[in-house]
Amino acid sequence: MAASESLPRIAPSILAADFSRLAEEIQRVENGGADLLHLDVMDGHFVPNLTFGPMLVQAMDRITKLPLSTHLMMSDPAPFLKEFVAAGSDSVIVHVEIDSDVRSALKEIRDLGAGAGITLNPGTPFQAVEPFLEEIDLLLVMSVHPGFGGQGFIPEVLPKAARAAELKKERGLKYEIHIDGGIDTTTALPAIRAGAEVLIAGSAVFKAPDPGAMVGELRRVAEKALAS
Ligand code: DX5
Ligand code: ZN
Repeated sequence: MAASESLPRIAPSILAADFSRLAEEIQRVENGGADLLHLDVMDGHFVPNLTFGPMLVQAMDRITKLPLSTHLMMSDPAPFLKEFVAAGSDSVIVHVEIDSDVRSALKEIRDLGAGAGITLNPGTPFQAVEPFLEEIDLLLVMSVHPGFGGQGFIPEVLPKAARAAELKKERGLKYEIHIDGGIDTTTALPAIRAGAEVLIAGSAVFKAPDPGAMVGELRRVAEKALAS
């Protein structure tokens, strides 16, 4: 299904969901108005944690109509890009810090018919992604060190979202600005004000008593931040 056009958008991160009842968890956020799902793939090498591969992406694709945005925390994603797109990823995000060639990964993702995304760790300067801004559909600003959900938001990354928004406007570029890590109803405000257009939230959504209602809460905060 096509993603809703209006910004800001809310993307629950499946990492914090209860995997023993994943279909139900996804249904709750879909009913709550989530715009897309964010899927964290970790290889135990780029980050000290392991999650899942294309098989689970494909299973999720079967249980939801929402677009799937797959965040690859992998040192060498190249051999798997085709599989992740075939599994139903509408966009695939690679890290700028990877061992393999970033430009050819972005090109391959687009050639496969998916949206190409790039992301950078909190410690990586914005200049690292600048050479790729013309070749991406989304730019993900990491607001925690990748690897785990439930960490505290790092406000020092906000100037990167601001710079991304500034360059997008200046150069008439098309990428969407996502922010990932430690997003809740408090941190959503400065994130949106800085320039984030898509809020990714794991723990805030899935650890809430009512994940569907929390999607709506985040949207209200984001819309208010934009209006103020
Ligand atoms: C962290 C992941 C995030 C994570 C966010 O490595 O990239 O997508 O799921 O989780 P919260 O919202 O709990 O910080
Ligand atoms: Zn992520």
